[in-house]
Amino acid sequence: MTRMIQIFDTTLRDGEQSPGASMNVEEKLIIAKQLARLNVDIIEAGFAFSSPGDFEAVKRIAHEVEGPIVASLARAKPEDVDRAWEALKGASKPRIHTFISTSDIHLKHQFRLTRDQALRRAVEMVERARGYVEDVEFSPMDATRSDETYLCEVLEAVIAAGARTVNIADTVGYAIPHEFASLIRTIRERVPNINKAVISVHCHNDLGLSTANSLAAVSEGAGQVECTINGIGERAGNASLEEVVMTLRTRRRLFEADTQVRTEEITKASRLVSKITGMMVQPNKSVVGANAFAHESGIHQDGLLKEKMTYEIMTPASVGLVQSNLVLGKHSGRHAFKNRLEEIGYRLTEEELNAAFERMKHLADQKKEIFEEDIETIVNEELSKIPEVYLLRKIHVESGSDVIPTATVELSVHGQSIQNVGKGDGPVDAAYKTIAAIAQTKSRLLSYVVAAITGGTDALGEVTVRLEEDGKNVTGYGADTDIIVASAKAYLNALNKLAYWKTKRGQDGSKVGLI
Ligand code: KIV
Ligand code: ZN
Repeated sequence: MTRMIQIFDTTLRDGEQSPGASMNVEEKLIIAKQLARLNVDIIEAGFAFSSPGDFEAVKRIAHEVEGPIVASLARAKPEDVDRAWEALKGASKPRIHTFISTSDIHLKHQFRLTRDQALRRAVEMVERARGYVEDVEFSPMDATRSDETYLCEVLEAVIAAGARTVNIADTVGYAIPHEFASLIRTIRERVPNINKAVISVHCHNDLGLSTANSLAAVSEGAGQVECTINGIGERAGNASLEEVVMTLRTRRRLFEADTQVRTEEITKASRLVSKITGMMVQPNKSVVGANAFAHESGIHQDGLLKEKMTYEIMTPASVGLVQSNLVLGKHSGRHAFKNRLEEIGYRLTEEELNAAFERMKHLADQKKEIFEEDIETIVNEELSKIPEVYLLRKIHVESGSDVIPTATVELSVHGQSIQNVGKGDGPVDAAYKTIAAIAQTKSRLLSYVVAAITGGTDALGEVTVRLEEDGKNVTGYGADTDIIVASAKAYLNALNKLAYWKTKRGQDGSKVGLI
């Protein structure tokens, strides 16, 4: 019989711990809604105690996203567990996920706790969480470097205290598949009440083994896998959701296991997370990389033309990679636009719909054909709007082989129009220097990436930039048929995020760490 493996998505919590991947509440909500469309079983929406921003994200996702269980992380501390509950209460399917390390390395050098003290804390916090919710998960952090006998003792005690899921964390990505499989087997053999809990696994990718380790654990009876879209996460990241899910789907007979994930939503989820976090997906990344379904060699192309099965173990359509669908044009009305949005899964308020429709019409003036990806870009930009201190009014750039690139930019800054002219090493450099002078920003540009959303020279160009100021990294995003305008929009979007962050600094600017 095929077992259904629970997919616990932690893109919004561990994924957000990727350097530079911080997201605001609106962005997290957009991703959470896509995770619900993907039909994951659990969304870890954040770490409520860590910052007001995380608290707000957990609360809004718990209340506004239907379908999956919504979890908040909590250290094994009373104030964390209480705060997690504060954020989750009233939600239809809340889960508190509490954790403490079990390895001597962590206990001695970092927590400064004895094994007994850590065990007691774990039990007390599971009991406290159970006082609030039925669905409690406990993670022994650094489980793979813990003494097995002690680890089993802790698991037995937390299950007796009411933990319904025990999550075996390979926190530093140290495990090797056969060894990790053996650890799961040991736990099943040596923890007497293990059948009262689901065994989950949480694997990091430091040695590139996170997917392999997660699947090895599934083979030994693990019933939940924790993972992230595009494998983002602390350091080298977490097991990637698309790899775990597509391996189980493709090799379901071998594993006698599958998931409930709607795999056709994978590509959309991957693009969304990449766009919002500014973390590009490498072209040769399994399942979601630009080359994952591109066959270059003549022999392969010949085989594919004769029979797809020759070189294709899963179809592009099965992960939602379909030919760009022409959806709308210049003459499409508001009603058609609304219908199309609903078909691709977006329900907007009247106000959001009006703003997105205006943008679509504007785009249709510049570009004959509008594709699904263009609509998604517009809608996501509208939905993730933050207050705009800096607004682009006009930009004009002169450049070419025989002129010094010069930009003339007019911005509205706090509602007041300011114009400036500046030169640079290229058109984008000239535009950015001029904008920086007007905004008087101290931020540093960390990265600048341009991509075309759909094919053709009239494609929407999308630009993602990363800025840093006072240790805070933000990602700015802009799209336009004119690449200089898209670049300016992305820069201003990032500057607006920094301005927004400054107003909230101290509230959600600095996060509590995991220990
Ligand atoms: O990697 C880890 O150990 C974690 C825990 C909090 C589950 O992220
Ligand atoms: Zn982790």
